[in-house]
Amino acid sequence: MATDFSETTATEAVVQSFSGTRDERLRQILTSLTVHLHDFVRDIEPTQREWEQSIEFLTEVGHMCDNVRQEFILLSDVLGVSMLVDAINNRKPVGATESTVLGPFHMVDSPESELGANIALTGDATCVVRGTVRSVDSSAVPGAVVDVWQADEAGYYDVQQPDLIPDRNLRGLFTADGEGQFWFRTVIPKFYPIPADGPVGRLLSASGRHPYRPAHIHFIGGAEGYSPVTTHLFIESSPYLDDDTVFGVKKSLVRPVLQVDDPELAERYGVPNPFDLIEFDIVLDAIAESAEVGA
Ligand code: BEZ
Ligand code: FE
Repeated sequence: MATDFSETTATEAVVQSFSGTRDERLRQILTSLTVHLHDFVRDIEPTQREWEQSIEFLTEVGHMCDNVRQEFILLSDVLGVSMLVDAINNRKPVGATESTVLGPFHMVDSPESELGANIALTGDATCVVRGTVRSVDSSAVPGAVVDVWQADEAGYYDVQQPDLIPDRNLRGLFTADGEGQFWFRTVIPKFYPIPADGPVGRLLSASGRHPYRPAHIHFIGGAEGYSPVTTHLFIESSPYLDDDTVFGVKKSLVRPVLQVDDPELAERYGVPNPFDLIEFDIVLDAIAESAEVGA
């Protein structure tokens, strides 16, 4: 049967073509995609050449993907879609640690580490990061697991420079003590650019945007009976807190680097005195509480 396809009948014709989709959720998604995509095309009225360029761009994004580089995730990140999906899926009770993007550098397992370990395999660890994993009701969560990864003082992750940086540098998997406390020694990371040598980098420069993320340390905190949280702590003095290229900053996650002059404490942590201290508690919501939020 002819559909007599035109600017006015196009959307209904395509929506109708998906009406037999047996999976209800898939049908809902395909219908919404069709409606929004057609609206977008009507809005911008692309020339044939512009549409070809769009297809070429997406093709290039695909060609840039392999097992260490995921250009589609970067595209989703710089369009704010990763953070929007994260926000929709992490509606937490007030007081719980807010989530932010996982990012592409959690691609290897962090090594199990003792509390207090130095996760900097090169350079001097002069910074102590410490915190308590607790529940929204303030009770400590003993034995919580805290996964940590970060860039180094020059802004590089181990996986970005495998010939220069030792494997698993600045990564650690900690188990909090009986009071939910965790602490480790590290270096203060530098802000860094997301990989900008591909089509997403070109999109950023064509739109006058920089590729930088403010200095941060990644965490995943979790414990049985609680929803895990994927988050970062952001260094208060870092540039780009106001214009993170992937929109990952939340004010509640920004922390100062405290300068501590306390020889006894320095000795206890195994760092030279004076030292830098960052405090970052991880507040988890119990699974039942999350269910209530979604109810
Ligand atoms: C990261 O923080 O590791 C990251 C997040 C999104 C894109 C690139 C890097
Ligand atoms: Fe990062």
